[in-house]
Amino acid sequence: MNITLRQLQVFEKVARRLNFTRAAHELYLTQPAVSMQIKQLEENLGLPLIERLGKKIYLTEAGREIYRLSRNIASQLEESEQILEALKGTEGGTLTISVVSTVHYFAIRALANFCQSYPKVRIDLKVTNRQGLLQLLEENATDLALMGKPPADWDLIAEPFMDNPLVVIAPPNHPLSKESQIPLAKLEKETFLIREQGSGTRGAVESFFSRQGISISGSMEMNTNTAIIHGVAEGLGLGIVSLHTIKRELRDGSLVILEVESFPLVRKWYLAHRSGKKLSNLAEAFKEFVRERAWEFMDEPQASSEKSKEGRD
Ligand code: PGA
Repeated sequence: MNITLRQLQVFEKVARRLNFTRAAHELYLTQPAVSMQIKQLEENLGLPLIERLGKKIYLTEAGREIYRLSRNIASQLEESEQILEALKGTEGGTLTISVVSTVHYFAIRALANFCQSYPKVRIDLKVTNRQGLLQLLEENATDLALMGKPPADWDLIAEPFMDNPLVVIAPPNHPLSKESQIPLAKLEKETFLIREQGSGTRGAVESFFSRQGISISGSMEMNTNTAIIHGVAEGLGLGIVSLHTIKRELRDGSLVILEVESFPLVRKWYLAHRSGKKLSNLAEAFKEFVRERAWEFMDEPQASSEKSKEGRD
């Protein structure tokens, strides 16, 4: 079918009004111009769409079918127009954001708050580990990413927005929980629950211990922070997690932070996107929101950053 959108628009008006003069008037066209569009449409389709009986015009069966099609197209065009209008502002649209699993506790609180100011937006949130998130960035499958320090050789715009202190956790009855200034070497005798390959936390911890010449034994590998936190609380071993992920457990006393020398390891969380990315107004608004208000969504005390430097990724 070699029909044009214009022909369908003109036909839709004629079919709705069943009157060429009124249709021409509403389309700001002359009546012959309207007749010409309808004639061409009928020729393109190879069937008559309109029949004239006496002074009245009627739709043929093919005309009714094309009227249904043109109404659907008209309403879809209108819908798209509204969406595009919304995208020009910050009223509607979808915010596609991906976060490393450690950040999702923060991200959900921040998004809940952001949505109060932008109630019409749709949120598409992906939670994955560092490796998964880098893949999403590479595939251009996310607008914004909240993550640990991005690789230096990637073409990204990235800015740190919050400290991410990594702490050693233990159940409250663990013998080391009573000690202070625990030397790193003592950790070699402990077993650890560690995150999966591809986790940024794991990468940072491994490179820290290898720089210190310490080898710790990972007795169990788990692919979520939550599993590690529960496993440690159940006495399966020690863990190293972001302070931001254990707020509730510290409050209810099911976990304690061990006072290990050089800890916390203070990493940073970054807000990042591909450097050529055309961010929507909505994504820009969220970026600004995180920049200005991130601290509001973390109510636990920040661990001291004086003792340690940011871990390398
Ligand atoms: P992760 O990332 O959830 O993959 O451990 C945390 C980070 O890179 O800061």
